[in-house]
Formats: sequence, C-alpha cells, structure tokens
Amino acid sequence: MKKIVLGLAALGLAVSAAQAQTYPQRPITMIVPFAAGGPTDVIARIVGDHMSRTLGQQIVIENVAGAGGTTGITRAAQSQPDGYTIMMGHMGTHGAAPALYPSLKYDPTKDFAPIGLAAGTPIIIVAKKDFPAKDLKGFVDYMKANGEKVNMAHAGVGSVSHMTGIFFSSVIKTKPTMVTYRGTGPALNDLMANSVDYMTDQIVNVAPQIQGGTIKAFAIATPERSPALPNLPTTKEAGLDGFEVSAWNAVFAPKGTSPEIVKKLNDALVKALDDENTKKRLLDLGGVIPTGAERTPAALQKLVESEVARWTPVLKAAGATAE
Ligand code: MLT
Repeated sequence: MKKIVLGLAALGLAVSAAQAQTYPQRPITMIVPFAAGGPTDVIARIVGDHMSRTLGQQIVIENVAGAGGTTGITRAAQSQPDGYTIMMGHMGTHGAAPALYPSLKYDPTKDFAPIGLAAGTPIIIVAKKDFPAKDLKGFVDYMKANGEKVNMAHAGVGSVSHMTGIFFSSVIKTKPTMVTYRGTGPALNDLMANSVDYMTDQIVNVAPQIQGGTIKAFAIATPERSPALPNLPTTKEAGLDGFEVSAWNAVFAPKGTSPEIVKKLNDALVKALDDENTKKRLLDLGGVIPTGAERTPAALQKLVESEVARWTPVLKAAGATAE
C-alpha cells in the first residue's frame, strides 16, 4: 500500500512539474479587488500589460470590488493554485484587513504565494476644487470646525483610502462623515464633480487631475516631494507633523502555487519593472519603482508580515472596524 501511495505522490509531483514547465498554456486572470479606473486597477493594467508579453499569454483583469478589497482577495485566495488566477493586493487588503475584519476569510501572512511588489504609491490629501481652503493649514482648520459636516470618500473599510483617512483623522482629531465607493476611481469622479469633499488617495490615481487642476491637492504624505508633482508640498513642509504614509501594491498567487510558476510570474513582473516604457508609465503617475532587493517573493512576504503588525495597533487605537 505504502508503495502505491509513494508512487502516486511521485506521479503527482511529476505532473505538477510538467505543468509548470509548459505554464502558461492559456490566459491568466488577475483579480483587482476594486472598481476599474482606480489606483490598484491602473497599476495592475500597466504591469500586467508587459507581463503578458513575457509570459506569452494574456493577463485578463477581473474587477471584483466590495468590502474594502477583501471580497476580491478572498475569491482569489480560494482559487486553484495553478497559476491561472493571481491578484493585485496592497497595504489595505494585505496589511490593514485583519485588524478591521475579525472574521476575515484569509490570513495575509499565510494564505498566499507572494509574487512581488509592483509599485509604491505615496498618499496625497486631495479635495474638491470648491473646497473652502487654499492650503493644508486652512483645510485642517476647516475640518476641525466642521467635523462630520465634511464628507470623506474611500473605497471601503480596509482600503488604502479608508485606512489612511482614518490615520489622518486621528492625527488632526476630527471625525468626518465617510462615503464608501467601490474604488477611488468612482470616488475621484465625484470629487471632480464637487459632490464629495476630500480623500487621502494613492498618487497614481490623482496625479493627472492635480496636474490638470480639476481637483485641489494640499500635501503629499512622504518625507520628500514627488518628481511627478514637484510643486506639491510634503505634509511636514505644509506644517503638519505625524502624517507620513506611503502605500504599496503587489502581486500574489494563492497558497500552494508551485515554486516554478511563482518564479515565472516573478520573472515576468521584474522584467515589467525593468522595461523603460512600463517604468515611465508608473513614474509619470508618481509611482515608486521597487528596487531589486524589494522585488523578490521573500521580500514581499516580509513586507506583509511587518505591515499587518504595524497597522493592527494603529487601526485598533483609532477604533476602526468593519464588524
Ligand atoms: C484603495 O485601497 O483605496 C483602493 O486602492 C482604491 C482603488 O484602487 O480603487
């Protein structure tokens, strides 16, 4: 009996090695857990476009929005670990989510095969063009004076826009009214239409509108200014201490995906990040290109572990929870 079991196990290994050898044989689905047009979607389409060329198969983006990105990530985590379903996660879905969803159906540190970091995304405080403040100090004063009369847009509890919005509110001690969207793509449309007041969003989503003057930007929450928005002051320069945060987006596969397939996917991602045109598209939007050392699956695993540890106390202290 034992010989049969060993034989079957060896056969199974041989089959998966053969599958990995010929992978990919058909299009790959990349689940983006937010609505089309937002930062996660934009990054997925930019890197996915070049990854398709290296892999020789189309990477098809599937937007599965809801619950701050956890709906899409849950579906991706439960998909077959055959390399044909991957996902674009980020600091919210793979950092904040455990603190905000006690019954979360996945563990960011255990239920995935990390592929690699795709882009860093500094956070920017943006407001509708009609917002009655001309700089960050005026904005904060207005927020303090008007509390819940001010509406903050976000992409669902646990999204980057939500968690950084909570962080911002705890720093300036205000409690705005939250308005939930299926992504900050749709939220930005309402900001441009002056029908929601402000949000803290990833630079790759709002840079074109800031450059075009269709929305207001008060500051970027990083120690240095962004080359994509050289005239936008940092929060520190604008007089606000204690609010510095940069998000990140990264590619994951479900746990159990074979090391050979993980390597092929990581190789395609690294080639995309080294491609001049792909780099330019990300940099023009203010994205930050990961360094070589930051691009490995092991580096991403370490980042996820440290981010879950970092954000859990911050969000619990802010009393934020989805349930
Ligand atoms: C978020 O976390 O706010 C999302 O990245 C927004 C989006 O991608 O639509």
